[in-house]
Amino acid sequence: MLQRIGRYEILDRVASGGQGTVYRARDTVLDRVVALKVINQNIEDDPAYLEALQREARLAARLDHPNITRVHDFQVEDGIPYIVMEFIPDALDRQLRGNQRLPWRRAVEIGLQTSRALQHAHEQGVVHRDIKPQNILLRETGAAAVSDFGIARAFVSSTRSQTAGVMGTPAYMAPEQWAGGAVDGRLDQYGLGIVLYEVITGSPPFQGDSMEALYVQHREAPVPPISNSLQVPDEVESIIRKTLEKSPGDRYGSASELADALEGALTGGAAQGPRTEVSPPPRREPPRPEPAAAPPARPPRSRPQEPDFGGSLLIMMVSIVVIAVVLAIVMAAAAAVAG
Ligand SMILES: Nc1ncnc2c1ncn2[C@@H]1O[C@H](COP(=O)(O)OP(=O)(O)O)[C@@H](O)[C@H]1O
Ligand SMILES: [Mg+2]
Repeated sequence: MLQRIGRYEILDRVASGGQGTVYRARDTVLDRVVALKVINQNIEDDPAYLEALQREARLAARLDHPNITRVHDFQVEDGIPYIVMEFIPDALDRQLRGNQRLPWRRAVEIGLQTSRALQHAHEQGVVHRDIKPQNILLRETGAAAVSDFGIARAFVSSTRSQTAGVMGTPAYMAPEQWAGGAVDGRLDQYGLGIVLYEVITGSPPFQGDSMEALYVQHREAPVPPISNSLQVPDEVESIIRKTLEKSPGDRYGSASELADALEGALTGGAAQGPRTEVSPPPRREPPRPEPAAAPPARPPRSRPQEPDFGGSLLIMMVSIVVIAVVLAIVMAAAAAVAG
């Protein structure tokens, strides 16, 4: 096995994919762990491929988003090109090994983060073109980190590419990508729709014995319904169906719209429960009109003073008696003086 390439010390081999081998390595200058994707093709006899790889790596390096795997560097060593990336410990395809499924809520969460990543890339004019579980890496926190933006396009420039004009991975490829015409970001929605369907049900919607059979399915076959036993809310299933529309014009207008729909499914109606719920809906209290603002606080009203006739009469009689007594004393005194 390789011991070292450039300034990177190889720690272990992670996996081999379509275009190369990925290693976990240590950057001896910055002393940090990175991932190296070593393209398994000597580039010296294929300058167009080298140029395309360099261009795509440059575009990918510009992307700066928490749900995108960071590209640190692109180098060529003895005619072998390699891409230096952030090392991400897990990947969605590993979580699906052995026909595993994920709960719909977790799938939608990963789908939401992936569509935010796509939204960021599309805004910079970068279409991924190869969305599949192997390219949705997972950080230790569980957050998605989409990798390999644009690499599929570079591969088409390679003389070794068997399917010139076609790029991507057949099970995830939208009809317009098979046709080899012009594509835009809505292509990535389709790839993500296939991923979500696969993650939730355990297998992709279209499977074929040959490339031709697979193409016919992507182009013409309806998406098989998701089994009721999986308790996936209707809202989630209809979002997936919209991303899998045959014509890009029938999908969401942008990855941002798709992200909003997925977010709505997580926090809104779908969060209430799956469609198989048979219990009656909870009884709602009649809506109480909410005042626009709280009424101004009024001081407690003092009770109005009621006239107390009983008390006044007593005071009056006592006063008359006092006045009469005083008058009698005054008159008696006057008579004594006169007498
Ligand atoms: N930056 C990375 N950090 C950690 N593992 C990675 C990274 N990039 C790719 N891998 C792993 O290496 C495997 C091979 O990657 P790649 O060569 O891109 O082929 P593919 O994406 O077709 O599987 C991926 O499936 C993934 O598990
Ligand atoms: Mg990859």
